[in-house]
Amino acid sequence: MSQQEQWSSKIGFILAAAGSAIGLGAIWKFPYIAGENGGGAFFITFIAFTILLGLPLLLAEFSIGRTAQNNAVDSYRSIAKGTKWHYVGILGMVTSFILLSFYSVVGGWIIIYLLKTITGGMAGLSSAQYGEVFGQTISNPLLSISVQFLFILITILVVSRGVQKGIEKASRIMMPALFVLFLVLVVRSLTLEGAGEGIVFLLQPDFSKITSQTVLEAMGQSFFTLSVGVSVMVTYSSYLPKDQSLPKAASSIVGINILIVLLAGLAIFPAVFSFGLEPGSGPVLLFNVLPTVFSQMPLGMGFFAAFLLLFLFAALTSAFSMLEIIVSVLSKGDERLRQKYAWIIGLSIFIAGIPSALSFGILGEVTLWDKTIFDLADYAVSNILMPMGALLISIFVPLKMKKSDLYEELKRGSTLKKAVFNVWYSLIRYVAPILIIAVMIDVITG
Ligand code: PHE
Repeated sequence: MSQQEQWSSKIGFILAAAGSAIGLGAIWKFPYIAGENGGGAFFITFIAFTILLGLPLLLAEFSIGRTAQNNAVDSYRSIAKGTKWHYVGILGMVTSFILLSFYSVVGGWIIIYLLKTITGGMAGLSSAQYGEVFGQTISNPLLSISVQFLFILITILVVSRGVQKGIEKASRIMMPALFVLFLVLVVRSLTLEGAGEGIVFLLQPDFSKITSQTVLEAMGQSFFTLSVGVSVMVTYSSYLPKDQSLPKAASSIVGINILIVLLAGLAIFPAVFSFGLEPGSGPVLLFNVLPTVFSQMPLGMGFFAAFLLLFLFAALTSAFSMLEIIVSVLSKGDERLRQKYAWIIGLSIFIAGIPSALSFGILGEVTLWDKTIFDLADYAVSNILMPMGALLISIFVPLKMKKSDLYEELKRGSTLKKAVFNVWYSLIRYVAPILIIAVMIDVITG
């Protein structure tokens, strides 16, 4: 086999890249970060960053990956020979490592909820009781570590089997199904008593709530939900045949992602206000709200179990991409090494993630700058490492790749107009680096 496997179909790549993008970021993280940052104004800022920076950066990562047809580190090496630019790929590996270490904690929570729902343990409680059950569950050290392990184990098993066989197949059914269930959920949530307040909270911006910290969080969130800045998308697009349109793939991924974020917001906030819960209650928000909404539907627990299964799937397809980027660099296309590294790295991530899992229980009091270990890992990834990676990529592309070559690469299989290409190029070359640096300076000095 050639060094790079290829996706078995055109749609395979879009599904896998969308699978990496759509996950906890849009469904779990967006509602609670928006809830903590005042709702509407955060939502608008997030959308602006997604379109102005996220989309162009996604396309930039795609161009790097398909031009170089290599893993996240060697792609930079082959485009900028003899330079230190491959450290951007190494930064991506480190970021993905930390990312999966806490991502798997939340993945584990989904597994617990799924098991509880299937075995009937979630039926007929009140909203306060759901909160209590959830709090007890995630503060149980053995339980939370075991399910975190299970989540990572599934990730290892899939990634060790290789890109095509492992990641591609199931997405075809699961992603559309998730979408449909989300619609059901939104309808229920919007018809709850007092739902209007939640819609106002999400969609009516109150710009007095915007601080430099909010802007940074909105930017970090836009990178997080698109998997941008960690070279995961460089890795995935390197498996892509030359005849597929990159702009089309990037814009459909961004479109689906915005839609899912909107659906998640419309599912959560009306319910939050209807049940009198606190929008700023942090990482537990989704898990406290969802069971109550589902319990108010006919066949609610059946729907909830199905939703959790699909949600778990969405989280897993993102987790695969985090492990995949590291394993593909280390194994360089050798199948036996792939297996070995999937296990070694996967297990190391699990061990590194244990303190994050425990920070909702016995390590809850351990804080630095007012943040638990879990929050700290998340903050470092979303608001420091990912923006740094994104900044470096936005400098790398115009500096080390010829404009005419980029145009050729992006035009393959598509009808990209020169003017649109020029807009993209300016966004990457000027807007992205200036904006990212400005946001960071604003936070540091603010
Ligand atoms: N985009 C994923 C999510 O929203 C998270 C992710 C970030 C995955 C970076 C890979 C790389 O859940």
